[in-house]
Amino acid sequence: MNTWKSSDPTCIVIFGAGGDLTRRKLIPSLFSLFLAGKLPDRLLIAGLDRKPMGDEDFRRQLRQAVETFTGRAVDGTRWREFAANISFAKADFDDPSAYAALKTRLEGADKSWNAKAGRIFYMAVPPTAIATIAERLGRSQICADAARARIVVEKPFGRDLESARSLNRTLTGIFRESQIYRIDHYLGKETVQNILAFRFANALFEPIWDRRYIDHVQVTMAEQVGIEHRGSYYDHAGALRDMVQNHLMQILCLIAMEPPVSFQAEEVRNKKVDVLHAIRPILKDHVHEVAVRGQYGEGWIEGKRVAAYREEPGVSVASSTETFAAVKLFVDNWRWQDVPFYLRTGKRLPARVVEAFIRFRPVPHQSFPSSAVEAWQQNALVIRIQPEEGILLRFQAKHPGQHMSLSQVDMRFSYCEAFRTTPPDAYETLLMDVMLGDATLFMRADQVEAGWAVVDPILEGWQDIAPSDFPNYQAGSWGPAAAEVLIAQDGRSWLLPTILEDTSLRPQVSAGCVLSEKLGAPAGVPKTRPAKARDKPRNKNRRRG
Ligand SMILES: NC(=O)c1ccc[n+]([C@@H]2O[C@H](COP(=O)([O-])OP(=O)(O)OC[C@H]3O[C@@H](n4cnc5c(N)ncnc54)[C@H](OP(=O)(O)O)[C@@H]3O)[C@@H](O)[C@H]2O)c1
Repeated sequence: MNTWKSSDPTCIVIFGAGGDLTRRKLIPSLFSLFLAGKLPDRLLIAGLDRKPMGDEDFRRQLRQAVETFTGRAVDGTRWREFAANISFAKADFDDPSAYAALKTRLEGADKSWNAKAGRIFYMAVPPTAIATIAERLGRSQICADAARARIVVEKPFGRDLESARSLNRTLTGIFRESQIYRIDHYLGKETVQNILAFRFANALFEPIWDRRYIDHVQVTMAEQVGIEHRGSYYDHAGALRDMVQNHLMQILCLIAMEPPVSFQAEEVRNKKVDVLHAIRPILKDHVHEVAVRGQYGEGWIEGKRVAAYREEPGVSVASSTETFAAVKLFVDNWRWQDVPFYLRTGKRLPARVVEAFIRFRPVPHQSFPSSAVEAWQQNALVIRIQPEEGILLRFQAKHPGQHMSLSQVDMRFSYCEAFRTTPPDAYETLLMDVMLGDATLFMRADQVEAGWAVVDPILEGWQDIAPSDFPNYQAGSWGPAAAEVLIAQDGRSWLLPTILEDTSLRPQVSAGCVLSEKLGAPAGVPKTRPAKARDKPRNKNRRRG
């Protein structure tokens, strides 16, 4: 429902304004949009939280947060102009009087602007608080005008299929689906969106983008950090809920979806839901055949000793929460029948990296002498989502010399080199889209539920049988041995993320691009390559994929 323009008067109400997300992402992104002249002149950012503080304290904290999380000094004059739009009110989200006060505040803004402002209600709160806030908003009639009210809900959306359905029922009982923006911030990333551009704006790859030419797909989403300050949340979530059900499933959808007829939000979302519906259901009794879980023990990362998961603050000493998950999925349709999609994610892995590999089938006939093809490997397309975003195409070339000998070479596209600009933060893109009423990058109710339907049997299977071997991988390693077995039993192997390969192969990053700082790539990423992987001959490491 796009009935108000982004330049129209707007009130952004942040529930949970005293929390981490507001400081780390929302306010830095809103300030950046303000500096770029993209926010309306008549703007109110109303923060609500139970922490007591005045407007000035709140603004001071936010300014500090912008400096901390952007790593840049803030221009005082511009900040004051921006901060004049910000106010704070102490509120308990269970308390009806907080909503009465909010209603008065928003009506006051309408009156002073002599206009009916758009209202965005941002849920920067723990998932358990969302239903209560939505119900109270509904009861107080603050969001009664469907044409100018939108609600933004953060991930995780539910903790299983049943709770996601229940939350959807609550939200859709108060808001229309077109008013609900379910965020998976991964979809706001430029490189994730570029998968669509790469596939559907180029005639070159789509004809071979199917089971006839593609052997398998693998996506690695590795984090080097542990659970940081999120122990009490994470210990009730785990890697499957935190990363697989949303981020990894989104990347799978973008790789596997059919070409949309148009880039209308509903059309793109329909095509993604089709993929989720086509994923072969996992039978609870067969979970061990397609899914592996792990939990990190103590270990070494970048020369520093790090604690085991069970020693982290907020985590139970006998926790059976997984910090690593690997799954094998099949998309049962004409395009993908029997092509495995291997997804893995984990904490305390050797590096922070997200890459998708599309591994093509071997050539049908090898015409070169066997001496020429000793180092031969199947073609691969590597989509680098983080860090050093770009795309690599791996193919065979003749090694210089009198003899015919083939070697693998890379053709590289680097986002940073090609465009010489820093992409906007995902939250800038998504906040702007909420204001514009463009839901393409947000998840629809059925999409969220379809994602849960895929992982629910795994969650249930794991819940029924407590892991007996946790911790089963060392911090700083690539996860449990069982993850290697999961893929090795199909005659394949996990590929070392390309970012960790020989430094001499890495593209020269131009001086204008400060990727590591901006994107949080750990300094000296190549150094973090585990000795085990580094000691392997590179060809051996890649050959089997
Ligand atoms: N932080 C991130 O980078 C990030 C990234 C992606 C998604 N998310 C999602 O965003 C949401 C918010 O995360 P967060 O990290 O900002 O959490 P957070 O730091 O705990 O912030 C939530 C804020 O809401 C307040 N609050 C909670 N219940 C309340 C109530 N009943 N009445 C009044 N205030 C209440 C909390 O106050 P107390 O501190 O007193 O409890 C806290 O200030 C979560 O769903 C999270 O999964 C966060």
